[in-house]
Amino acid sequence: MPAVMDHLLEQDFIRVTEQAAIAAAKTMGFGQRKYSDQVAVEAMRREMDNILMDGRVVIGEGERDKAPMLFVGEEVGALRGKDGAVQVDIAVDPLEGTNLCATGSPDSIAVLAAAERGGLLYAPDVYMEKLVVGPTARGRIHIDAPVAENLRNVADAFGRRVSDLTVVVLDRPRHNQLVADIREAGARIRLIPDGDLSAGISAAVRGTGVHAVMGIGGAPEGVITAAAMRCLGGEIQARLKPHDAENEGKEEQEKRLQALGFHDLSKIYKTEDLAPGEQILFSCSGVTDGELLRGVRFFGGGSRTSTLFMSLSRKIIRFVDTIHREQVTTPVRFL
Ligand code: FBP
Repeated sequence: MPAVMDHLLEQDFIRVTEQAAIAAAKTMGFGQRKYSDQVAVEAMRREMDNILMDGRVVIGEGERDKAPMLFVGEEVGALRGKDGAVQVDIAVDPLEGTNLCATGSPDSIAVLAAAERGGLLYAPDVYMEKLVVGPTARGRIHIDAPVAENLRNVADAFGRRVSDLTVVVLDRPRHNQLVADIREAGARIRLIPDGDLSAGISAAVRGTGVHAVMGIGGAPEGVITAAAMRCLGGEIQARLKPHDAENEGKEEQEKRLQALGFHDLSKIYKTEDLAPGEQILFSCSGVTDGELLRGVRFFGGGSRTSTLFMSLSRKIIRFVDTIHREQVTTPVRFL
């Protein structure tokens, strides 16, 4: 992706996550997570097809449920398949935290990461063990080190005591031992119902009060977290970890991984393995209010979104606050 394109795609990608966030936010609290996801996917896909690029989805929707849109391998963009068009690999999570949106809980976001071809690992939709820290503790952790040792090193990097750290963990029975280990080490824990991607981004932003994210979540979310870490200077270490899920058992996941060529399940993936690109772009917009971003607010005649946009090659991190007016004749009533 030429540098000039990186610049031109900025507004496009911001619009993609903004529109997905608005669509999902309109369904907040409906209690219908699949519907919330569907409207976010449709909005994202619609916006993406206006972008002058030859895009290919490498992380997308419902690999196993054969999603009709934004599925892995789908070509997107107004110039898809055209000679000479800028080629972009795209990872999307149109609604990260579908349950959070369905219940009006904090921290659901709409996310897109992009890179030059081959710049984002194609990670199958299985579980992944992850350890995420921000730039302050980068280089001070190891996924195979005991929890207490990692936390001592993170605390040391921050110049604090372990008891001053907050670790985010998905609230799942599979994390009982991890939670016990963190408690024994003395750190504080925030158990979250969903959304380890947005927690991972928060870990790399000072002021959010998150110092590390630990535990097993989705592998696609792991790749997108890595793209964000590249832009923010943070670190993720990860390992594919087949585990029983709602709609697929551990053994089926293992078979699927074998068939896809992932034979070494002990392999540790570092940030650069998951997101090796040199021209990574990242955009996420808040759907519901969160630590990092405000959710979409609706007012008479429009809405207001809050977005984090980042470009690795241009070394920028931008917080974008946008008012979207539905009709230009409508008075803006947000102040
Ligand atoms: P959805 O956006 O698909 O609802 O996933 C949210 C999430 O909590 C992710 O943040 C996390 O990585 C994954 O699901 C954990 O999976 P599970 O709910 O099966 O434990």
